[in-house]
Amino acid sequence: MRLEDVQRIAVLGAGNMGHGIAEVAALAGYDVALRDIEEEFVRDGYDQIEWSLGKLAEKDRIDEEAAEAALDRVETFVDLADSLADADVVIEVVPERMDIKKDVYGQVVEHAPEEAVFVTNTSSLSITELSEVTDRPERFCGMHFFNPPVRMDLVEVISGKHTSEDTLELIEGLAEEMDKTPVRVRKDSPGFIVNRVLVPLMNEAAWIVESGDATIETVDSTTKYDMGLPMGSFELADQVGIDVGYHVLEYMHEVLGEAYRPCPLLVEKVENEELGRKTGAGFYDYEGGGAEIPT
Ligand code: 3HC
Repeated sequence: MRLEDVQRIAVLGAGNMGHGIAEVAALAGYDVALRDIEEEFVRDGYDQIEWSLGKLAEKDRIDEEAAEAALDRVETFVDLADSLADADVVIEVVPERMDIKKDVYGQVVEHAPEEAVFVTNTSSLSITELSEVTDRPERFCGMHFFNPPVRMDLVEVISGKHTSEDTLELIEGLAEEMDKTPVRVRKDSPGFIVNRVLVPLMNEAAWIVESGDATIETVDSTTKYDMGLPMGSFELADQVGIDVGYHVLEYMHEVLGEAYRPCPLLVEKVENEELGRKTGAGFYDYEGGGAEIPT
């Protein structure tokens, strides 16, 4: 597959990251098949794309025509085989669990065109292990976007043990077509680069609060206004999804050791399904107005 031959992209999973990646691909001029397992999920994803494109137009980041044209390029599916018809690239964005991802790619190989290239937006899991359930591990790599994809510039392109140089170059080219900056990650290790640094930071912030040394608001105020990061640690956890950070940590804990044990505060939020913005509440209450961080 050459970059100029890529026309249609199948995005499997219409959640937070899935619909954001679909939007980015559509804005870059690709035809997009957005697929999820239930009509309601895929419809929600489509509505989020519509909202986001409207917001970008309102803020003059794109014009109205570009927003309309991008939305027109997105088709929604529940049937997996239909979503994969004519796909040149398949981007898997299903929940961050190896068993689910393997199950999806196990089905994808039965329906995807022979020449299609496969990527995963996994935040931490082994690219090599996942590639080995497919019939084309040399045409498989990580393509890790950041939340919200439409605003974040970086994309990690991660090589598995079997990934070919051609595949890495194709996906780096695709990221650039999407107006992103690809960074190649040569070692397929848990959390890659960004999450290996970022997720322990969120965990440490949670341990500080868990031990009673500071409040959520004080930690966020310090990270945001004193350290100059764009969001406080808890605000960011709510943005990416507390469950996403938790699953990354769980995997890093399993593979890399004790230093990465998830803080009970995160476990409690996941158990209560208070996952952040997407559920209306996490460390902050979004139905009650969202984060109020002292300056
Ligand atoms: N689409 C369109 N508009 C959006 C949007 C989206 N997806 N998400 C938010 N917006 C809108 C908001 O509604 C707001 O609009 P409003 O002013 O009308 O309420 C507006 O964007 C805010 O944008 P601004 O440029 O005015 O605000 P900021 O300068 O604060 O920028 C930001 C917003 C770019 C999200 C910035 O806060 C930021 O960079 N935050 C850090 C995000 C980050 O670090 N992400 C990476 C997380 S790690 C990850 O994703 C990996 C994973 O594997 C865990």
